[in-house]
Amino acid sequence: MSNSQVQIFDTTLRDGEQVPGCKLNTEQKVVIAEQLDFLGVDIIEAGFPVSSPGDFKSVEEISKTVKNATVCGLTRSVENDIKVAAEALKYAKKPRIHTGIGTSDSHIIHKFKSNREDIIQRAYAAVSYAKSFVEDVEFYAEDAGRTDNDYLARVCEAAIKAGATVLNIPDTTGYCLPHEYGAKIKYLKENVKGIEKAILSCHCHNDLGLATANSIEGVINGARQIECTINGIGERAGNTALEEVVMILKQHPYLNLDTNIQTEMLYGISQLVSDSMGIYTQPNKAIVGANAFAHSSGIHQDGVIKNRETYEIIDPKEVGVTESAIVLTARSGRAALAYRAKNVGYELTKLQLDEVYANFLTFADKKKEINDNDIHQIIETSKVYQQIIST
Ligand code: KIV
Ligand code: ZN
Repeated sequence: MSNSQVQIFDTTLRDGEQVPGCKLNTEQKVVIAEQLDFLGVDIIEAGFPVSSPGDFKSVEEISKTVKNATVCGLTRSVENDIKVAAEALKYAKKPRIHTGIGTSDSHIIHKFKSNREDIIQRAYAAVSYAKSFVEDVEFYAEDAGRTDNDYLARVCEAAIKAGATVLNIPDTTGYCLPHEYGAKIKYLKENVKGIEKAILSCHCHNDLGLATANSIEGVINGARQIECTINGIGERAGNTALEEVVMILKQHPYLNLDTNIQTEMLYGISQLVSDSMGIYTQPNKAIVGANAFAHSSGIHQDGVIKNRETYEIIDPKEVGVTESAIVLTARSGRAALAYRAKNVGYELTKLQLDEVYANFLTFADKKKEINDNDIHQIIETSKVYQQIIST
């Protein structure tokens, strides 16, 4: 793998599916996994096999179906979890076991009622046991975001000694600021013995709206895998949004960080996930929201009609959206009305436009948004209608 390549680890079907009320059945999961494979993700986290017979079956079916991506199953640092995950992954062309344990003092004291040395031993034992089933073992240090860096480095060293190929550094509670998360990755890169044998992975939650920024800081500081979900869905405020990190790296080529994602599929897969889960994506969601390429104020519309790049940094086609939308509201100007009128078959002169625009404003004050039928009606009821259709 070249040093500029960032692996995209999709966890829509595991962390993403932890959204309350959004359970998917096995068939739906297989359909999404196939699309993720076509999209070009490098790893699909298909589920947590020990958690239920349904999850086991989903991981097994996804393992049979996926052709290119690595298929991954989550476990705790518990032998039975690992054994069950290995069993569920047995048909995968490229299986990965993702095992780990909480490393912050809060997790060690309250969750495990244990101590730091014991946690290191459990981490080592879990990775060693997972290695007895598969070559590719990812270790997560849960709540790494709130774990002090010296201790985290010692846990990572133990995981590498046991054979971990990937070290996941989750900001489980979405607590870190971008510069802190970046510094954590840099610290591990510089202080963990044997770090060259493993890839560092970012897994950031969005409790403070920083998941995407933190993941980008992570890769700028040396991580080479990002864990993310379609539409940023996931526990509480969600995970890093796949479409956001991918487009950030694509829009900033000087970072020299690439992914294998076929970006033209992003909008379609966003719709598939939101329809399957019954969660509607917020209209202003970056990249895939309904308004991500819609322009509504007169000043912006005039600029975009003259040259799309005045107010758009991404060509909508690059992410699978057919075209930018010029939305007609009472805030729209003449340029937008002329543009939309032309699209439905009316070429207006300047004087005709002045007349139709006055009529449009009366309509638009009564209605939130003017559609194509309304445009016909506005033109048909304007004083210059006969003149327009006879030219
Ligand atoms: O957020 C987290 O810490 C996780 C781990 C289980 C990887 O999802
Ligand atoms: Zn998580």
